[in-house]
Amino acid sequence: MIFDSHAHYNDAQFDADRFELLDTMPEDDVAYIMNVSDSIESVKKIIPIAERYPFVFASVGVHPEEVENLTEADMDVLKSYAKHPKVKAIGEIGLDYHYDDVSKDLQKKWFARHIELAKEVNLPVIIHDRDAHKDCMDILRAGDVSKTGGIFHCYSGSCEMAAEILDWGMYIAFGGTLTFKNNRRAKEVAKYVPIDRIVLETDCPYLAPEPNRGKRNNSSYIHFVAETLAAIKEMTAEEVERLTCENAKKCYRIED
Ligand code: NI
Repeated sequence: MIFDSHAHYNDAQFDADRFELLDTMPEDDVAYIMNVSDSIESVKKIIPIAERYPFVFASVGVHPEEVENLTEADMDVLKSYAKHPKVKAIGEIGLDYHYDDVSKDLQKKWFARHIELAKEVNLPVIIHDRDAHKDCMDILRAGDVSKTGGIFHCYSGSCEMAAEILDWGMYIAFGGTLTFKNNRRAKEVAKYVPIDRIVLETDCPYLAPEPNRGKRNNSSYIHFVAETLAAIKEMTAEEVERLTCENAKKCYRIED
């Protein structure tokens, strides 16, 4: 039983077959999907998808690369969407210093503002941190993220950094990159983080795991990530899927 804790089925790469693909998910043992928004436009698209499928949930938030023209009026829009019964998180939010498109100060401002929003609406956060570990941790610490909890998506930090994130009661997500041969660091962190604090994710359509690396990703490919994690944890893939599914349900406060 799989919980894909981070997917983007609103992405244009799914325009041709979005519903056909989602229809097949239960057959592939995918029991839950968190469909994550990354812009104000995508927030409007994810709600109808979550309303169509009982196993699809939604998060609302603006990705750091999309915050350039964000306003307080947009935050009011997010706040009203956050009250929808299928919306279970604020995200994905954070910092992305990989590209130079949006100023660091603007990213930091809106990241902190989203954490305030999460506290206002009492929802966990989904964190995107690319090449920005120090500033990201500083903002999470200052914002007292232990009050909301949440998930560190596509985790790329150290074991030391993971220790502090675990202290805050947060979960750490692993996806396709865990299966990549050269990714020794992620495997080391996956070994370090206790299984009751790990969740699985795709970030689909991106980051497909081996042996499908480079192809369009989808939630059923999480089986390959579970197999890799099972080898690291010396468990069966079924156990890994069951436990990580329970973790994601607990984090997003989803009851059967
Ligand atoms: Ni994402």
